[in-house]
Amino acid sequence: MSLDDPVLAPVLDPARELAPQAQAAPAGSGLPPRFACFVTGTDTEIGKTMVSAALLHALVQNGVRACGMKPVAAGAELRNGVLHNDDADRLIAAGNVTLPQSLTTPFMLTEPAAPHIAAEIDDTYISPVPILAAYIEVSAASDAVVVEGVGGFKVPLNEEFDTADLAEQLDLPVVLVVGMRLGCISHALLTVEAISARNLMLAGWVANEVDPDMAYIDENIDALQQRIPAPLLGRVPRLDNPSAAAAAEYLDFSQLPNWPVGRNNT
Ligand SMILES: Nc1ncnc2c1ncn2[C@@H]1O[C@H](COP(=O)(O)OP(=O)(O)OP(=O)(O)O)[C@@H](O)[C@H]1O
Ligand SMILES: [Mg+2]
Repeated sequence: MSLDDPVLAPVLDPARELAPQAQAAPAGSGLPPRFACFVTGTDTEIGKTMVSAALLHALVQNGVRACGMKPVAAGAELRNGVLHNDDADRLIAAGNVTLPQSLTTPFMLTEPAAPHIAAEIDDTYISPVPILAAYIEVSAASDAVVVEGVGGFKVPLNEEFDTADLAEQLDLPVVLVVGMRLGCISHALLTVEAISARNLMLAGWVANEVDPDMAYIDENIDALQQRIPAPLLGRVPRLDNPSAAAAAEYLDFSQLPNWPVGRNNT
């Protein structure tokens, strides 16, 4: 039996087996609707972690057991014998379900570099199987999961698998964070096209004002609103003290599918 066998491969390939289970509970399964999403962005350093943490913060405020995942983190340092990554730590702090880091970040890479390069430096190979298996465990242990991508939407993870493939295999509604700066319109619209080409649901987008001096920001946001076929969840201004709670003040997640409106709403 081999994964090279064209007949057996679809049966044996764990990625194929796991992917369908990685979806939200189907209607009629007896489980309450569960919130889950994949957070992507127009680029690196444009606010994906901040928005992911804001989502987790709002879920926790609503009384939901919420857990963040940063499946692939590049740039970690050893503290008290444990590898720490800033994004992973911020998601842990914003959620309220404590799970082993091997589940919430199956690939914790030391080098702050493109993931496939960081993986090679750590003598690791990033495969989708541990990520999908971890997602199922995280999902089983919590009521809501927020998965943060890496960099932009299409970042290589190995020679034949990238973060867009990962989003497709997880099959979660996507939240797109647009870092508002010159050039963001094309980045955003190309990302929207790539999301739709993979038949993923673009559930909403966030205008994150990363450049406080951006000229014509209102006009840029208008142009995006006219062209992005998903609701604008809010505009986050340049914050003096960026935090999950501060960003959540500017965001309305109630239009996202399976958002737990009314469940212990605060
Ligand atoms: N609206 C904002 N106001 C102030 N600071 C912000 C804002 N948005 C993001 N930042 C800051 O910019 C930095 C990058 O944000 P963040 O880490 O959320 O980006 P990212 O897209 O997750 O990056 P990466 O690609 O590394 O995962 C952080 O220090 C964050 O606190
Ligand atoms: Mg991040």
